[in-house]
Amino acid sequence: MQQQSYSWVPLFPERASSFAWEVDALYFYLVAISVFFTVLIVATIFYFAIRYREKEKFKSGAEIHGSLLLETTWTAIPFVIAMTIFLGGAIVYYNQYRPPKDAMEIYVVGKQWMWKMQHPTGQREINELHVPVNTKIKLIMTTEDVLHDFYIPAFRTKADVVPGRYTTLWFEATKPGKYHLYCAEYCGLNHSGMGGWIYVMEKEDYERWLAGNVSNQTPAEAGKELFEAKLGCASCHQQNDQGRGPTLVGLFGKEVKLANGQKVIANEEYIRNSILNPQGQIVEGYQPIMPTFKGQVTEEQLVALVAYIKSLGTQPQSNTMTASN
Ligand code: CUA
Repeated sequence: MQQQSYSWVPLFPERASSFAWEVDALYFYLVAISVFFTVLIVATIFYFAIRYREKEKFKSGAEIHGSLLLETTWTAIPFVIAMTIFLGGAIVYYNQYRPPKDAMEIYVVGKQWMWKMQHPTGQREINELHVPVNTKIKLIMTTEDVLHDFYIPAFRTKADVVPGRYTTLWFEATKPGKYHLYCAEYCGLNHSGMGGWIYVMEKEDYERWLAGNVSNQTPAEAGKELFEAKLGCASCHQQNDQGRGPTLVGLFGKEVKLANGQKVIANEEYIRNSILNPQGQIVEGYQPIMPTFKGQVTEEQLVALVAYIKSLGTQPQSNTMTASN
């Protein structure tokens, strides 16, 4: 889909994602409404100021004591306008903040003052992110230190990156090119320098780029190593239900019943919390014997563990990418 450019408005960044036009349309709608009413009100003020400038010469109008028609009209019109703004905003919001299930997943870890990204095939980047065009991309993001905010003006999207939890952001780039990435949350001395570039490439170029870059272990492979060897998780969490801890095979996306009767969905956040604060959510039927791994695993290792446990999942997770290495 070819996007219209804004060469006539130099203030606008390019429009390079599937929902950029929605954000712009909403913005122009708000501007149009504001301009219309501003002009109307200012013109009316001037008109009346001139029309009734001398009390002696011009009689004031007849007094009226309420008019149902008038009151209904000036209630109904603002109501309709307010609702169109609300609906427009809600639609754009829901499109942006609910990542599609079939998106390619890239992990992002923010850190004073850089962005670290990792592709599902293992390639790592700092302050640069290469993505294929016309492909749904979901970023799973966290930070090692303070709040940051991942902001790509050309895609009209941004999301806070919060310590201690995962946030997501998704987009589908529609135009190959090089686009600014910013940190949009003040995060210390070099906040203004915490940025980089998003490179949107044709799919073949992206495949070539992937092949030309050293892929270390994929996040899932790194997680497997941690799980089985370095951290020894596998001694309790076995492939079947015979271990001291629950098996994690097929866990991702499922509903888990906790010892306190609560039911939770095993998403990224749940896995993360289970590693850092295992006592907080004991699975029904198991003993609270798992030690915390807080302070022993970095954010990147956590991300790897999450990716590994996801890879054990049975939920259909169709990746749009095939490992090319
Ligand atoms: Cu990171 Cu501002």
